[in-house]
Amino acid sequence: MATTIYKNYVGGAWMECATRKTFDNVDPAHTDKVIATFQDSAPVDVDRAVEYAHDAFKMWKNTPAPKRGEILFKAAAILERDKECIAKQMTQEMGKCIAETRGDVQEAIDMAYYAAGEGRRMAGEVVPSELNNKWCMSRKEPIGVIGAITPWNFPIAIPSWKAFPALVAGNTMVIKPAEDTPWSVIKLAEIFHEAGLPAGVFNVVTGYGPTAGTPLLTNDKVKMISFTGSTATGKIVATTCAEQMKPYSLEMGGKNGIVVMNDADLDLAVDGVVWGAFGTTGQRCTACSRVIVHEDVHEEFIEKLVAKTKSLSLGDGNIDKTDVGPLINEKALRKVSGYVEDAKQRGFHPLVGGYEIKSPNEDVNGWFYEPTIFDNVDINDTLMQEEIFGPVVAVTTFTNTNEAIWMLNNTCYGLSAAVYTSNVNFAFTALNEIETGLCYINASTIGAEIQLPFGGIKGTGNGHRDAGSSMIDNCTEWKSCMVDYSGKVQKAQIDQ
Ligand code: UN1
Repeated sequence: MATTIYKNYVGGAWMECATRKTFDNVDPAHTDKVIATFQDSAPVDVDRAVEYAHDAFKMWKNTPAPKRGEILFKAAAILERDKECIAKQMTQEMGKCIAETRGDVQEAIDMAYYAAGEGRRMAGEVVPSELNNKWCMSRKEPIGVIGAITPWNFPIAIPSWKAFPALVAGNTMVIKPAEDTPWSVIKLAEIFHEAGLPAGVFNVVTGYGPTAGTPLLTNDKVKMISFTGSTATGKIVATTCAEQMKPYSLEMGGKNGIVVMNDADLDLAVDGVVWGAFGTTGQRCTACSRVIVHEDVHEEFIEKLVAKTKSLSLGDGNIDKTDVGPLINEKALRKVSGYVEDAKQRGFHPLVGGYEIKSPNEDVNGWFYEPTIFDNVDINDTLMQEEIFGPVVAVTTFTNTNEAIWMLNNTCYGLSAAVYTSNVNFAFTALNEIETGLCYINASTIGAEIQLPFGGIKGTGNGHRDAGSSMIDNCTEWKSCMVDYSGKVQKAQIDQ
């Protein structure tokens, strides 16, 4: 059966790429099933989209922010209307369970309403002047064309975290979605189109990194890059942008730990680890992949963790009883399998899992990997230090709380961390000492809400934050404006 061929969204119209080349997107739970076909864009397609975004910038920047917000508000309502259909299609596109893809769309809806409201706030500053009859003000101005490169694990949430704040602030955009999930961003473009966003303000160019991503980095009409994805690609973004003095916002890997104290509610902690490690098949940058358990409760914790993990059902994410969907693609499967096989060769035996499995039930045939637990892993082991981005979790023990926090922080990343304890003093001490951008007490490492700044420190990011109170700062520049209405010559720092 012929599949739908989607075009790029450029200048408010649907356009084929110059070379007419396309690529197929398959369902990771049924790898023989092509879901849709997309444009395999070349640099010339990106440059054309940037021209449209550049041309639309002046008009959009000068559209009053409340008016921009109104259009985005309409887009939010359409997202809400289409939530179920987007979730179902997204599960086909990238595999995670329908409950989670609904959550992904909900995150986009939340961000859309939150950012749309900003159209009537967008506060600046008015500060005193040193001089009489003079006002000192500062306002946030859009940067220009923002190039966004977005990941496949949150196919509509993360593009929305980037697009809604950037657009309400008056920027225009060209976005290159991950080649594994172009549909979700095409759908976002359809939504903006229906909401009445003017042509050229939001553009989507699908394709691969070297041909459709890199041209965004090098085009000098793109004034900022916003990137979420792997550390390896993030380094390319950083070095390419640095050469051109182009600002960039990076959100990359994580190696997120959970500490379980001897006073913790163990069932709650087990639930948090299972949800954090195996939700989205472990493919969140916030996923829990290391657990640090107090020696006193280690045995009981492991027993409960293994039992709960064994009860998880693998399969097609669009079937309600499925707990864990497939990995995104063959390369991801090879990577996860590689880490586990390497660990086995080094003498580790998984307590549960440890194998790829093509058909966990007769309805599917895809890139599945069993949820896998390794115990007694040294904190410096590869399993504790490298981002596997799959359903693999490593456990170790501690005896004193300083050691636990030290272990939690002993990673090159700094995105998310969690502590399960009933001791309020330890909880606050941990919050104070944890070196991550997101910290949880008695909740898992995943599930950040859009009204909080999202991002990490150390190897995870470069100090920028999507979402929350920093979302507008992330895509604007301050302009300080001084008005002297004294009618005479006044010199700051001199006439005081
Ligand atoms: C990511 O994995 O890139 O906090 C983002 C969470 C989600 C977002 C994850 N709200 O787990």
